[in-house]
This record gives sequence, C-alpha cells and structure tokens, in this order.
Amino acid sequence: MRITDTSDLWWKNAVIYCLDIETFCDSNGDGIGDFAGAAQRLDYLAELGVTCVWLMPFYPSPQRDDGYDVVDFYGVDERLGTLGDVVEFIRTAKDRGMRVIADLVVNHTSDEHPWFKQARSSKDNPYRDFYVWRSDPPPDTSSEVVFPDQENSIWTKDRKTGEWYLHRFYSHQPDLNVANPAVRDEIAKAMGFWMELGLSGFRVDAVPFFLETEGIDGHTGDPHDYLRDLRRFLLRRSGDAVLLGEVNLPFEQQIEFFGDAADELTMQFDFVTMQQMYLSLARGDARPLAHTLTDRPGIDPDSQWATFVRNHDELTLDKLLDSERQEVFEAFGPEKNMQVYDRGLKRRLPPMLDGDPQRIRMVYSLLFSLPGTPVLFYGEEIGMGENLAAEGRLAVRTPMQWTHEESAGFSSAPPGKLVRPLVEGKFAQDSVNVVDARRDPTSLLGFMGSLIRRYRECPELGWGSFSLIDTPNPAVLAHRCDWEENSLFLFHNFGAEPTEVSVKLKDGDVPDGGGILTDLLQDTMADIQAGDEMQVELPAYGYRWLRVQVPEVGRLW
Ligand code: GLC
Ligand code: CA
Repeated sequence: MRITDTSDLWWKNAVIYCLDIETFCDSNGDGIGDFAGAAQRLDYLAELGVTCVWLMPFYPSPQRDDGYDVVDFYGVDERLGTLGDVVEFIRTAKDRGMRVIADLVVNHTSDEHPWFKQARSSKDNPYRDFYVWRSDPPPDTSSEVVFPDQENSIWTKDRKTGEWYLHRFYSHQPDLNVANPAVRDEIAKAMGFWMELGLSGFRVDAVPFFLETEGIDGHTGDPHDYLRDLRRFLLRRSGDAVLLGEVNLPFEQQIEFFGDAADELTMQFDFVTMQQMYLSLARGDARPLAHTLTDRPGIDPDSQWATFVRNHDELTLDKLLDSERQEVFEAFGPEKNMQVYDRGLKRRLPPMLDGDPQRIRMVYSLLFSLPGTPVLFYGEEIGMGENLAAEGRLAVRTPMQWTHEESAGFSSAPPGKLVRPLVEGKFAQDSVNVVDARRDPTSLLGFMGSLIRRYRECPELGWGSFSLIDTPNPAVLAHRCDWEENSLFLFHNFGAEPTEVSVKLKDGDVPDGGGILTDLLQDTMADIQAGDEMQVELPAYGYRWLRVQVPEVGRLW
C-alpha cells in the first residue's frame, strides 16, 4: 500500500451518507430540521463509520422541487440556518474525521432566481443568454420530459417575450445556458465559494442535461471540455475535492463522463448495477447482477463507482426492459401508489422485503462488498420505511427516526407541525428508531456498523480488482476482490434455499508458504494452503466475507 494513494484518494473507500438538513434533526422546535440540529448528530454518524456527508440542497428556494430549484447559489435557506451554521457544521464534521460535500444544482435555476426574472423581462436583457430560448414553436418533446406526471414538453412559452425557454425538468426550472461563458464563470464562482467554506466537493446534479448544449444556437463546443475545465478548476482550488456525478445512462455512454484521462467526474453513481440488483432480488437469481458487474467497464484507479441501494429520488428502474421492470414491480411494489412515473418505486428496501432481517442484511452485505464506494441514504442504517401517502419522491424523504416519541425525536414540535409526515405502520418510529437500535446488539444498526468497519479494513473492496467466481448455483453471486497480496472472497445467496459453494484455491490465490483464511463476519480463522478447497455454507439469503491474507505478526483481524 502506497501511503500517497490511500490518503490522497480518500473517495476510493469512503462511506458516503446522504442527508437532507430539512428532515434530519430540528434544534429549535419549529418542526423543520436545521444545521444546528444536524451538527448535534455528527457524533452519531462518526460512530457509525461515515467518512463523508452529502448534503442535499440547502440553498434558498421556493421548494417546488425540494430545494433542487435554487434562487441563490450563495445562500442558505433561512429555515435551516445561516452561513455561520453551515461553517460550524462542516468544521465539526471535519473534527470528527468526516468530509462534507453538497449538491451542486446548476443544470437549471428556479424561475424565481433573479437571473431568470431579468432574462424573461426582455429579449435584449443582459441575462437573456443565461438561459436557452427559441423563437419558433418547438416540436413534440413529450417523450423527453423527466417528470411525465407534470410536464409534456421540455419547452415552455413565456408570455412576456413570446419565446420558449428550455427546461429539462419542471417548467419552473429553466435550464441554464452553459455555452455562455458568463454562466460558466458564475458556476465556478459558486463552487469556489463553498470550497472556501470547507466543502470537499460536490454531488453534481443531472450531469448529462447540465452539459447538454443541444438547442443552443451557434454552439459547437464539446461539453466534455467544459467538464474537464470544471474539474481542473476544482483541483486548483482544492486538491482532494471530488465531483460525484449523477449520470443515469447505459455504461457505454456513462463511461465517457469519467474522462479518458480520469479528468472529468471523480465518481459516478452506478444506476445500472443498482437496477439489476433489484431484478436479481426479485428473481432470486444472481445472474442479472453478475452479468452487469462483468459488463461494467474498467475505470482508472483514480476514478470510482458509487454504489447504492436507495437514493432520495424514485427507485428508478428505467434501464430495465419493460418485462423486467414489471417483474420488479410485481415483487416489490405491486400497487399503483407504490410506483411513480411508470418507471420507479416510491418504497424503501425494508418494506419491499417485508422487513425480513436476513434478506435486508444480505442486501447491505452486498452493498458494502460490491466494488465501489457505498452511498447510504439517511435512515437506511436503521431500516426506515416510507410514507406512501406522501407525494411522489417525498415518500422516502420523511423525518429521521431518532426515538420512539411522537415526533420521532426529530423535533419537539407535535407531529402535525413537522415539515413532512412521519412513516406510519410497521416501520414507524415506535419500532424503528436509533435509540432502541443502539441498545439492541442484534439490531440492523449494529450490523451496519460492523459491516462498515469490515469494509474500511478491507482495501481490496475500494481499491482492488474485481472478478466473478463461477458457481453452479444461479442463486449465488460469488466474487472476489484482489489487492496487493490479499484477496476477499464474497458470497451472496439470493435464493430462499440454503446452499453450499466450494472454491478451490489455486497457486497465487494464497501467499507463498500459506495464508490465513478469516471469516470476517463470523470472526473465525484458519490456516490455508494453495490447493485447499473452501466449502462455503450459505443459509437462505446468506452472505459470507472470506479473506485470504498474508500471516503477519500483530494482525488485528
Ligand atoms: C436530479 C435530482 C432530483 C431533482 C432533479 C432536478 O435528478 O436527483 O431530485 O429533482 O435532478 O434537479
Ligand atoms: Ca428548526
């Protein structure tokens, strides 16, 4: 292990935790989460093993898209705190060994942003070109809209000037014109501002749309040049900052956003693998996931995939075939109110799996052992559910459940005054909350903590090379990650039947002179030689992490 690599490329084996300040912890009893409240919970996150907090948008916003509609790139929504509170939060996180990144939402602004108010006021306003306009009627773009329940075109006619403006998302989110150098300067300036305040980078919203310059008259530049410029700017300002990009495209197109010289996005969410994982879960068959992992293109050692089970949006299944999507819907979200936009689910994992603790743990064991850097969405660590009565994606953005009290310890305000309704029923705070989970050594929270520790102790996972191991049983995903002289063998049973897998260790699999085989989740150890066969028993939905390593004096695990 070269010290320069492991300390500089911190994102290669980070544990990223996404939270929304609004729904995490309320310090002043107004029913709305705030920075001061979230800062009080940083010790909890540090104890869990989180190394990087990702903050969803906290900027001033009319809140028509939960803060993804920004009116001021330099401010803080006053309900959540002040710039001073942001700095205190970042400083406290750093003190506990955690970095903070935040959403950079620059594909569009809110239509209430002062730039757009200016831009729409007349065709010759200096801000007109901050946005994308067309003068002739647009063609039918109903198949291109992101939110088909609300929009039927990506162009909206603006009354004042009689021209149409581009909006990839809602019509109240006009797209910025990134071909305009003045817009590029503004974006860089906003990034620089937050980095000065201590952010370690950004989760870049909607990257392909943000970079897109189609529809902009006279523009010929390569959007990847612009992404490279942004990365260069970021690194000039802060050498260890990252761009974690949202690029939900097939692998062949997605891979371009890392850049040929690993000089564009540092990390990208792996939407494709996530979707195939759900198909595998629905079928009790590991092959869809296995095939996808084999197809996943190799990346530069400085780049990284970000793996996840759930994010803050709909659980999108848009990359599955229609029939496959139907299978997942039938297995995990058969009712219409569980589905959204005809392509995704409004549910979180535990309710989808009927709360089956073994199956839920298998999924998280998988998350932490897939090659890549895991990203958790707040509440996953305790097994929170969703509130299906909430509109669309808000179903999974309910207040964090800290205690069993009536407002879940999220706020001292009564439940009716909270910014969002709480989860109800089987996954509500009386059965799912942090305080009870901490007292229970068998809780999901305790399990997540130990998984995270193991993951952090195994650089093979974040850094190593990945390969599949052939097994005769299609329900089992068997894979290995190798790095330097150590290897991890990982087994996940997607099936409801117990099974056994045997793996013969070849020369080269075991250090010369023999190694030690450690069962990392069961804490057993044995000597092992090349030629030995590992017999791996897996219960229904079982999982095992076996590590073959060099014997070493003083080894702790
Ligand atoms: C991204 C975000 C989503 C938001 C959209 C528009 O897809 O993940 O929550 O609504 O961009 O900003
Ligand atoms: Ca508050």
